[in-house]
Amino acid sequence: MTANEIRESYKQFFASKGHTVVPSAPMVIKDDPTLMFTNAGMNQWKDIILGTKDPEPRRRADSQKCLRVSGKHNDLEEVGHDTYHHTMFEMLGNWSFGDYFKEEAIDYAWEYLVDVLHLDPKDLYVTVFEGSQEDNIARDDDAASFWRKHLPEDHIINGNKHDNFWEMGDTGPCGPCSEIHLDSRTPEEKLKVKGSELVNKDNPQVIEIWNIVFMQFNRKSDGSLEPLSMNVIDTGMGFERLVRALQGKNSNYDTDIFQPIIKEICKLSHKKYGEDEAVDVAMRVIADHLRAVAFSIADGQLPSNAKAGYVIRRILRRAIRYAYTFLHQREAFIYRLIPTLIAEMGQAYPELTAQRELIGRVIKEEEDSFLRTLEKGISMLNDAIEVLQKEGKSELDGVQAFRLFDTYGFPLDLTELICREHQITVNAEQFDEEMRKQKERARNAAVVESTDWVELAAGEQQFVGYDYTEYECQILRYRQVTQKKNTYFELVLNNTPFY
Ligand code: SER
Repeated sequence: MTANEIRESYKQFFASKGHTVVPSAPMVIKDDPTLMFTNAGMNQWKDIILGTKDPEPRRRADSQKCLRVSGKHNDLEEVGHDTYHHTMFEMLGNWSFGDYFKEEAIDYAWEYLVDVLHLDPKDLYVTVFEGSQEDNIARDDDAASFWRKHLPEDHIINGNKHDNFWEMGDTGPCGPCSEIHLDSRTPEEKLKVKGSELVNKDNPQVIEIWNIVFMQFNRKSDGSLEPLSMNVIDTGMGFERLVRALQGKNSNYDTDIFQPIIKEICKLSHKKYGEDEAVDVAMRVIADHLRAVAFSIADGQLPSNAKAGYVIRRILRRAIRYAYTFLHQREAFIYRLIPTLIAEMGQAYPELTAQRELIGRVIKEEEDSFLRTLEKGISMLNDAIEVLQKEGKSELDGVQAFRLFDTYGFPLDLTELICREHQITVNAEQFDEEMRKQKERARNAAVVESTDWVELAAGEQQFVGYDYTEYECQILRYRQVTQKKNTYFELVLNNTPFY
């Protein structure tokens, strides 16, 4: 099955079970101060889950675009280096708001994976919540007993609060969960070590594919749990991982979600995928980041210098940097991949097609301007690295890192990334100190003293900017201004080219 067919089959399966298939919520969140981006399928249902919004229809399903750029496994700097972490990803989800609960949720998941997708039950492992004394919750024996209908005991594993109690954040809806893990190692490897021993052990071939959350509580700000007014099912299946498993690939980037984009990158850059690790990493970075940035722009979030806009700018600049360094792209390049992205994903996400032009223009402008600064900054940094290497040193001082930030717009993490490639660290404390000094300088610079205006002549001011390049004028009034020990005069002229 192709990725598009798999996504569709999920929606159809849950539609056949009485679910209303709804569109993805925007990836960019505008009305929740606790969250900049959608990071789970349930975000858009928070008010329903908390009982403050109408729950009808009570069964829903969708594929939700999500963005995660922080957290243990979602450090932006790691994306591209391995084969299965992403910034933007899709989460397939089905919900029950006070309708079915644990048993049906487990039965549906099983039926979809085994009967529809034909995954081998021998490769499936599930986890159930072992309980928590602190929260006064017992082991989830219910979930375990429902799983026993489908799986032998040694495929049902207890999990702790970290893995098996899902919380949206410090406060909000939460509850025990059951994860489904898939072992896609070779038969030889499976004989050597049992899959159950590798669950939640960071093995890239034994991965969680689906999380079924049994929402029962609301975590309040004092840390206590209060039961929800109804039981809620919230499931989330990592689409890219599922597709990888079904298409029998070792890397998410080898599936048809990413391959068309990677092939286009190869074509445009005249490089090959799979021959040189540094080039491969760059292609994965670009393919991943293109999606995150294009979807954000389609949702109305443009790159900027603050908050969500800055996250997007950082992601895009990281992609530009990799294209520049490893694919030797000296001109805007990423925007040229948009037609391929839209051909692959535009049907499932029509907002991409609708915003095609805006996405292209914004990415190209950002590429053009960042490439100009990048070129100057990188050559300066390379010189500094060369000097360090000659001197046998392995740390770049924070003053230089700050100069790169101040003059060339290099965020500290970008400087650190380039330095890391040469086994050089950056003194971040010094960088912070420079930043503090800079802020203080800006504050001092803002202190201005001025005398009163001295009137020399009466009269109106006339604007002559567009019509003349020279014009005779007279000083109407002036004053003396002192700023940082410098003294100068401000003049008001009767005829002026200034607004
Ligand atoms: N909310 C859960 C998760 O994000 C299941 O959808 O894993």
